[in-house]
Parts: sequence; structure tokens; C-alpha cells
Amino acid sequence: MNNHWQLFKRKLRSTRNLLFSITILIILLGIVLPSLTQQRITITVMMQALEAAQWQSLEARFEEENPDIDLEIIKAPNATNLVEDLYTSSFILGDSPYDLVYLDIVWVPKFAAAGWLRDLNEFTSPTQLQDFLAGDLDGGRYQGGLYRMPFRSDGGMLYYRSDLLAANGYEPPNTFEELITISQDLQAKGVAKWGYVWQGKQYEGLAAMFVEILEGFGAYWVNPETLEVGLDSENAIAAVEFLRNTVQKGISPPGVTTYAEEETRRLFEAGKTIFLRNWPYVAGLAAESDLAGKYSLKPMVHQPGYSSGACQGGWGLGIAASSPHPQEAWRVIEFMTREDSQRDFVLETGYVPSLRSLFQDPTIVAKYPHYPQLLKVVENSTLRPPIAQYAEASDILQRYLSSALTNTMTAEQAMQAAASETRSLLGS
Ligand code: GLC
Repeated sequence: MNNHWQLFKRKLRSTRNLLFSITILIILLGIVLPSLTQQRITITVMMQALEAAQWQSLEARFEEENPDIDLEIIKAPNATNLVEDLYTSSFILGDSPYDLVYLDIVWVPKFAAAGWLRDLNEFTSPTQLQDFLAGDLDGGRYQGGLYRMPFRSDGGMLYYRSDLLAANGYEPPNTFEELITISQDLQAKGVAKWGYVWQGKQYEGLAAMFVEILEGFGAYWVNPETLEVGLDSENAIAAVEFLRNTVQKGISPPGVTTYAEEETRRLFEAGKTIFLRNWPYVAGLAAESDLAGKYSLKPMVHQPGYSSGACQGGWGLGIAASSPHPQEAWRVIEFMTREDSQRDFVLETGYVPSLRSLFQDPTIVAKYPHYPQLLKVVENSTLRPPIAQYAEASDILQRYLSSALTNTMTAEQAMQAAASETRSLLGS
């Protein structure tokens, strides 16, 4: 009896021990297994291939800091319109793979109006936004919502060969006429083949460049408040004539009507032109070319009595409304837009930050002494019309402008047709 009782107690103890061990094992498996097998969340974004390559070190740093997120950057063609089309079709067809949208400032109203973006006001507050450039932030707003956090700013400007101007006794020009006079004189002297090079290809860059010429002539494209169209005004037609004349007088190469940013940058860096209209990224690249120390930049020229126009460009991040991972997508945005990330990116690439403080940052100014000056250009820049039908309006302008520049239509015919089509589009 005694023995039986002992045996029974021993069995009971070992069963209890077994149960205890199993329970502990289950608990351990419950804790350890999920973390071992946990899937990293993939956050996908698409951008121009040129820039995707420049994002690599930031991408690596982000993943190091956020081991649970895999940031996947899909490469797209190097043209804003083409990237816009790719995002657009992915959202229209549904099942878009993109969690983040890397947006050109001009896409915001269309994407927001279509409901493709999440309002970022739920993630951020006015105090967190204080240091961002006002124009860049405004370009991300639509009907009270904030749909894009600015990552890098952009503003069109005039590059000039400071060495050649100084050697020939010229001050940098302020007016269109001065630019023409200097160009023709230096071309005649054989100092440079071309006077002035700009983006004349039929694409978004043409519309962006034209905004600056329009403003310099005291004209406008579309008033976003009243939807009034100003393309057929006398001054707008004069702006087109100015561009046509640069080609007709041989100040700009005939091929200018097929050039985008990169073609024009290469001509400038090769020493073929005195003046160039382009974005700030050129300064970063030219500083490392044979042109280092031989050029400078300034706000665009204008007609006497009017002011310089700088087109507001720039890129930023939005969250796709269809993304199943908005929190993780926001973590990417927070990382990319914060000060240290922007500083590294700017130092590496020469792009323009979206945070005001960085324009005075000692490490940035040591490398790019023109940044404080650049702040003035980007702070005085003009938005292309922030309207939901922007893509169509830009398309109309590009088409007719291109016809005028390639002599298929007169400047007047082209601008009248562009104005009337734009009016029908906007119902104004
Ligand atoms: C630059 C600008 C962008 C503009 C584009 C035109 O990338 O940042 O806003 O639309 O040039 O080519």
C-alpha cells in the first residue's frame, strides 16, 4: 500500500513536471517563433532611375535603423510625365504595388482629387512642419489636406559663365535684352558657340521653363483662383516670340526644341554656351566638372519693370490610399525628410533641401557656397497652376508652344489656340 502510494506520487510528480515543461515550451514557442519567422514589411516606391541610384545610401541607412521594413525602390524612366503615367495607371487599374508615391509638386492636385493619396495631417502637426519651405509645403496641400511631404525643393534659375563675362567686361544680365546683347557679342567674338540654352522639348520641362519667361514678361498661364487663362495676352505672345527669336537669331542651337534638362546641362558643362536655364542640380554636378569656379547662377532675367520668374519644382513623398501599411510608409517619410537625412543627400548630390535651416548649414555651405543665395530663388518661386486638371492643361500648353517654337504656327496663332483649349478644359 505504502509502495503503491509512493509510486502514485512519483508518477503524479513526473506528469506534473511533463505538463509544466510542455507549458513552458508552448510559451517559449509562442514568443520566439513569431519573431524568428516574422515577415519584414515591404514598402514600395517608384522614382526616376537617376534618382533611385542617388537614394541608395539613404535607403541602406533607413533599413539599418528599421530592420522590420524592406524599402523597395522601383526604377522608372528619367522623365516626370512618364513616371506620372505609370503611377496613374497603377492606381486606375487597382491593385497598385506602391505604398509611397514620390511626387513631383505638379501632380499633387490630380492625385489628391482622385483619392489616391492619404491625408498626412493624421501623422504630422503644424509645429513639425515649421522649418519646411512654405512653397514646397503649399504645393503638397489640396483642399485643406496635406498629401505630400517635401523632400527636395527645386527652382529654375539662370546659370552663366562668370569667367567669360568678367573677361569681356560684362556684369551678369538682368533683362532679356541684356542676355541677348551679351550672347551675340560673345558669339561674334568666338568666345562660345551658343549664347543661351534652355529646355524646348515637348514635355513637362517646357511648361516649367515657360512659366519663368511668362512671368518675366508680366504674363501668366492660369489664375488658380479665378481659372482665368492668360496665354493669349499680348505679353504672353511676346514671351513666346522671345524664345523663337533665340533660335532664329542663332543664340540658341536649332536642336534646343528637342532638349530636356540633361542635354542642356551637357552643353553648358562642355563650355558650349554662355547662359543656361536649369534647376539647381546642375550646380552640384558642374562643381565637379571642368567648369568648376567658372560659372555662377542668378535669378532669371526679365523685362524692365517686371520681376524674375523662378518655376517652383520639387519632389516629395505621399502615402498611397491603397497601401496596407500606412504606418510603416510614414516611418520612411519621417526618416527621409528629417534634417540629417536631407543633409547627407544634399552633400552627396547637390540637390536642394526642403528644410530652410539647411541652406545656412555650415557643412552644406562649405561645399556649396551658393546655398544662402539659392534660398532666395526658391523662396520667390512661382507654382505652375495648382489645379486638378493640371496634366491636361500642361499638355495643351506643351503642344502649342512646341508648334510655335518649331515654326508650325505663329506665336499668336499658337497662344490663341492654347488659350481657347485651356478655357474649354477649365470651363472658364
Ligand atoms: C524638375 C522639377 C519638377 C519639374 C521637372 C520638369 O524635376 O523638380 O517639378 O516638373 O523638373 O522636367
